[in-house]
Amino acid sequence: MSNNILKIDSSARMDDSLSRKVTQYIADTLSSSSANIAHRDLAQTELELVTDAHISAYYTKADERSDEQKQLLSLSDELIGELKIANTLIIGAPMYNFSVPAALKAWIDLVCRVGETFVYGNNGPEGLTHVERAFIVVSAGGTAIGSPVDFSSAYLTQVCRFIGINNIHIIDASGSKRDPDTLLDFAKNQVDKILS
Ligand SMILES: Cc1cc2nc3c(=O)[nH]c(=O)nc-3n(C[C@H](O)[C@H](O)[C@H](O)COP(=O)(O)O)c2cc1C
Repeated sequence: MSNNILKIDSSARMDDSLSRKVTQYIADTLSSSSANIAHRDLAQTELELVTDAHISAYYTKADERSDEQKQLLSLSDELIGELKIANTLIIGAPMYNFSVPAALKAWIDLVCRVGETFVYGNNGPEGLTHVERAFIVVSAGGTAIGSPVDFSSAYLTQVCRFIGINNIHIIDASGSKRDPDTLLDFAKNQVDKILS
């Protein structure tokens, strides 16, 4: 089976971004000659917010959608397509105001789509993706990961479960005010332990 890795970055920062460094480290560590790595940079993608028209299109059967609705869903289709072929998902999630950046939330709203990434079954929602494991890198300043005011880790874990991903690793990349090398070593050690 092919090894398809999807790396999602959402930091507005580029070179100085700690989450980007850690997501890249995970991708590099997992990559082999047989791995395909797709990169979606949400800071460089024009992500629309879900509108009334999107919701109508989501709930219209694919073969009954108008050309306008198909056009409206084209980015959502593209993002879902990237997710559907992935076995491994890596998400860089800087903490912005105790939660995820707006760009990451917009991506979530475009990929969590009924009939595509989840369905409602007899026992509630069932995830439809085939991602076997997810690495979620939560970078932050002073907010402790896993604390009651970290609204990123539990939220992203729930979103992953909702679309069918059950093997989820949260990588704590908090403490951006300290020496960046120390923080990176701290995060990389967690990754190494998981992968060893
Ligand atoms: C708009 C904004 C909001 C932030 N809010 C928080 C926060 O609520 N808690 C926190 O610990 N750090 C917060 N930070 C700090 C970032 O989470 C931290 O700098 C992190 O390293 C950013 O990820 P990056 O290095 O990948 O860009 C915020 C930074 C920005 C730019």
